[in-house]
Amino acid sequence: MKNENKTPGLLTVLKKQEVRPAPVWLMRQAGRYLPEYQAVRAKAGSFWTMCMSPDLAVEVTLQPIRRFDLDAAILFSDILVVPHALGQAVRFEDGRGPVLGAFAGNDRLVRDEAVWAGKLAPVYDAMARTRSELASDKPLIGFAGAPWTLAAYMLEGESSSDQRAAKLAGYRDPKSFSELLNILADTVAWHLVRQLQAGADVVQIFDSWAGGLPDRYFYDWVVTPNKRVVEGVRKVFPNAPIIGFPRAATQRGYETYAEQTGVDAVSIDTAQSMRWVASVLSGKVAVQGNLDPIALIAGGKTLDDAIDHILADTAGMPLIFNLGHGVLPETPPDHVARVVARVRGAA
Ligand code: CP3
Repeated sequence: MKNENKTPGLLTVLKKQEVRPAPVWLMRQAGRYLPEYQAVRAKAGSFWTMCMSPDLAVEVTLQPIRRFDLDAAILFSDILVVPHALGQAVRFEDGRGPVLGAFAGNDRLVRDEAVWAGKLAPVYDAMARTRSELASDKPLIGFAGAPWTLAAYMLEGESSSDQRAAKLAGYRDPKSFSELLNILADTVAWHLVRQLQAGADVVQIFDSWAGGLPDRYFYDWVVTPNKRVVEGVRKVFPNAPIIGFPRAATQRGYETYAEQTGVDAVSIDTAQSMRWVASVLSGKVAVQGNLDPIALIAGGKTLDDAIDHILADTAGMPLIFNLGHGVLPETPPDHVARVVARVRGAA
């Protein structure tokens, strides 16, 4: 029998209390490495159709929970639904990833909440339905891209290894660029609030392109906008648990982010030492991470050792066990089962 009154471990960790075995979920836990995901995707025809069809989004959100009994579900969606709501064309091409229409300037962005609500209704519908189908002891995570990462896609039009278009915009016209980041922060906060209203228990802000910024720009383009998102959410939901992921930040960057944004937990990328994280972030935030997604592909002793190291380095700290980035398509599903069992001390 499940104890329905017991607070889920993930929510306890987000109150900065240690829980062992640590709760475990994985970024991109719903995805192409699962044959049941491939089956739904083949039927849907495209990734974007799945994001915008509540039945399909609910189904793929629940697939990894059924298969692995992970400790949390994350709604199947994408960070690019926000540029879509703001009026920029978004499409996904197989083998290439996202492709956006040309950015037409801040003044052309659609700033009408009724329009956003209409365009993103399938996302909130999927959230509400997932919450009602998911066991009550499993927290449901909503998410959004952070302003800098969204700006990088909106200005570049696709994934970019150095975020050149966004950096150039920020260097050449700091005033318009900071205005864009503010517009995005307010839209992202609105989107996260809507997800919380629809049933999300936790939200995560993905700043996937936070690495590679000069220190002071990391402050202006990552820390300040993430703080504005957190404040926007907390105006409506003062106690909403929020996880931030400033991926590939420097150590000083992670520290500043943890101290200043107001997030409850910081998700740590693969390259960081969890021992360093434990010594510096302990007492400030909970931490999430940071298994190498490629060690997850490798499996065997490499995987076991990597899991054990993270657990040992974070002993005494509130930890959410996760990857340092998302599950990759070539990952054997059995290796995910192994992670869950080992984190729980059962393998
Ligand atoms: O974590 C989850 O299981 C929830 C779903 C989720 C997806 N995207 C589904 C997805 C989440 C949280 C995201 C976030 C996201 N989307 C980010 C931030 C996290 C990160 O990975 O850095 C970014 C940068 C995006 C934008 C995006 N979406 C890209 C660059 C791509 C193409 C890359 C790829 O892996 O093909 C996507 C597509 C995407 N988003 C897929 C999934 C499952 C693959 C789609 C498919 O072809 O089936």
